[in-house]
Amino acid sequence: MAFFNLLLSLLVNALYVLFILLLVVFLGFCLYIKYTHMKYDHIPGPPRDSFLLGHSPTFLRIMRDGGVLQDKLLEWAEIYGPVFRVNVLHFVLVNVTCPDTTKEILMSSKHPKDKFLYKKLFYLFGQRFLGNGLVTARDHEMWYKQRRIMDPAFSSLYLRGLMGTFNETAEKLMERLSEIADKNMEANMLHLVNCVTLDVINKVAFGVDLDFLNTKSPFPKAIETCLKGMTYYVRDSFFEFKPKNRPFVKEVREACRLLRSTGAKWVNERKTAMQNGEEVPKDILTQIIKTSAAEEKMTEEDEEFMLDNFVTFFIAGQETTANQLAFCIMELARHPEILEELRKEVEEVIGMKREINYEDLGKLVYLSQVLKETLRLYSTVPGTSRELAEEITIDGFRIPVGTNLMFSSYVCGRMEKFFKDPLKFDPDRFHPDAPKPYYCYYPFALGPRSCLGQNFAQMEAKVVMAKLIQRFSWELVPGQSFEVLDTGTLRPKSGVVCSVRHRKDDI
Ligand code: HEM
Repeated sequence: MAFFNLLLSLLVNALYVLFILLLVVFLGFCLYIKYTHMKYDHIPGPPRDSFLLGHSPTFLRIMRDGGVLQDKLLEWAEIYGPVFRVNVLHFVLVNVTCPDTTKEILMSSKHPKDKFLYKKLFYLFGQRFLGNGLVTARDHEMWYKQRRIMDPAFSSLYLRGLMGTFNETAEKLMERLSEIADKNMEANMLHLVNCVTLDVINKVAFGVDLDFLNTKSPFPKAIETCLKGMTYYVRDSFFEFKPKNRPFVKEVREACRLLRSTGAKWVNERKTAMQNGEEVPKDILTQIIKTSAAEEKMTEEDEEFMLDNFVTFFIAGQETTANQLAFCIMELARHPEILEELRKEVEEVIGMKREINYEDLGKLVYLSQVLKETLRLYSTVPGTSRELAEEITIDGFRIPVGTNLMFSSYVCGRMEKFFKDPLKFDPDRFHPDAPKPYYCYYPFALGPRSCLGQNFAQMEAKVVMAKLIQRFSWELVPGQSFEVLDTGTLRPKSGVVCSVRHRKDDI
């Protein structure tokens, strides 16, 4: 009995100590939050939902209701001005729409990518994801070394050589659309252009010909699952601990593993070919292998690092362009007058020929305007962020060193003060004679960390759109919404389902 009493009192004491410890930790956390509030509350911002959670409940509500987080930031930017703060637990994110600050920060290499987002994306629910790859590397030296090695695979000379692949793959889409038109079927344009961009990146970057347009593949779903997982992982710190989310978290980890194991297989095949002295293309895969240490004695970390970049290019090089194409097709379906003008241009520059060459692309000026306007209204990668390396002042507000600064091309692109009547789709905003937007339009980011694949993506998009306009008419099937789906990157919610006709049948 005495032993039992002793055990009980030990247990009670242990629980008591644990309770005190938890209380101290909790109070410490509250004090830290209070300290961050004091440090940043001179910057304007919306009232917090709660002292502890900050604005997280608002963000979680938007995500639960299928809304677009960037639309809330746009609303706040209109109310609170060129700089405003948002609180998420003990984190403070300072949102900037001031063009001069955007220029000052993004054009400089002094300010690294911020910890809040990019460090987190090293893993996805415990599974290594983008690691130290080109998009997420925060350390300047580590990033610069990779970028230098990768640059030649994006030089204009190299890109010219890709025109054959762009044409060939876009032709496969035309064949598919031709069958769809013949059979009077409906076409899910988002799905189809996703297959095209996936085929292109696999062929061009990794030398693998998979023909996703005509075969079923787990990759598009895996990419979508990773991106969806990424938004929850970044925006909801407790997501993975809620039992109801376990199946989804498992799915995300598996999707991530699928991408990495595919990468490991393709990297090993290429390395073997290189070791056997075979001639290999100077493509992105070869450059990825070069970014790693000496090939003979690669460590496990070197191998993982190569897979970081494999996944980076697999994702960055594909669905952003597909989403841009799908939004563009959607907008042209509701603007027949713009489509008509595009047809005239395509007829003049390309006529009925099938092989579009590099010189033709430069002459498709109005198509460039349409693609730019698409990214203004639908910035498929909405923004970027930086950690402030030194104190600055924005609009009279002092911003402390170490602050996470958020920049959104989506938000700026939809502000009346930068673009008159911003919701109107008007490609003439990007007419060669129109004034250039001043640091309020940056769908490919700006400065040293801007998109490496910008020219690649726009060449690919032009080839696909020019062929589509040359040969087909399309209409959205009734019931399609024009809403945006926020999966971290932005895509059309309804998939842009269209009925498609051969243009020769229109005459
Ligand atoms: C419409 C298509 C595309 C859009 C809108 C887009 C947009 C962006 C943006 C905004 C960034 C900066 C990301 C950040 O700061 O977190 C970025 C970075 C990057 N993008 Fe793209 N991208 C597109 C297509 C591509 C393609 C096709 C590739 C590769 C083939 C690519 C490769 C990259 C890489 C490697 C980076 C990291 C660059 C660095 O930090 O050095 N992107 N992209």
